[in-house]
Amino acid sequence: MNSVRSTPAQQTIRIAIQKSGRLSEGSLNLLRQMGLEFETYQDRLFTQCRNLPVDILFIRDDDIPEYVQDGVADLGIVGSNVLNERNLQVERLLPLAFGFCSLCIAVQERSSITTVEALNGKRIATSYPATLAAFLKNRGISAEKVLLRGSVEIAPTLDIADAICDLVSTGSTLRTNRLKVIDTVSKCQAALIQNPRMKLQKKTLCTNLLMRAQGVQEARKYKYIMFNAPSTALQKIRELVPGCKSPTVIPLADPAFVAVHSVVLEERFWDVVEQIRACGGSGILVSPIEKFIR
Ligand code: PRP
Ligand code: ZN
Repeated sequence: MNSVRSTPAQQTIRIAIQKSGRLSEGSLNLLRQMGLEFETYQDRLFTQCRNLPVDILFIRDDDIPEYVQDGVADLGIVGSNVLNERNLQVERLLPLAFGFCSLCIAVQERSSITTVEALNGKRIATSYPATLAAFLKNRGISAEKVLLRGSVEIAPTLDIADAICDLVSTGSTLRTNRLKVIDTVSKCQAALIQNPRMKLQKKTLCTNLLMRAQGVQEARKYKYIMFNAPSTALQKIRELVPGCKSPTVIPLADPAFVAVHSVVLEERFWDVVEQIRACGGSGILVSPIEKFIR
């Protein structure tokens, strides 16, 4: 094992991620992009990073908040749905922009029920009783909640519920079980959480890991853009692609033109490109950004 793991002043950080499910792949990708080097395969429960004093625990997603609250893990990657459901003592550090899903009310495809109001007096199976109760109260609906810890989707087939309230990500679980969505309770995504009572010896590394996670996040939001533009359009171009401080402007052999390098938000990208072209910009090159530390 690499000696960087065993600095006495710095204690090993434990990060808990989902063992197998919606968040597993995204969590592993994020940790690798944060520069953590580790091996994992099949049903491993635990792995040690080679290059930092970090251990990764693979556990059931619904158990991760408790692990982090109780300090068994220092950091965790978990769906915001679980955090909203339970009032736990964990610190939310960062929404992670993956693991997007919705908590939905669904009924059997052949059911005549089309609105959640029609579930008044009926039974709804869920693993999210508190979130569901708040939603029903808000809509003035009174329904019986059937609490299930897993396999909620089979409740209507078994006739233990008339509807379910469960997470929908790709929609394949619903399709397989011949269910259809009639309403959405909330939208969710993965989040990075931290134990709020972390030991001082762990804080420096945790802060460093948070900075890395933010760097990966920021990079995903932006594209690196390079193009040529008429020197006369420079003022307008500066407004279009301000970058961090201001765009990099490089003179070209032809003094009538400059080369401009900057970053642009992915969500505004096509709009900005159109405006660059309208200003006489051309030769537009775009590349992804791997890390972006502000
Ligand atoms: C949720 C939910 C469904 C699945 C839906 O499970 O309970 O089983 O995701 O995803 P789909 O629309 O892509 O089919 P989760 O990942 O939370 O695992 P768990 O049920 O083991 O907690
Ligand atoms: Zn779950």
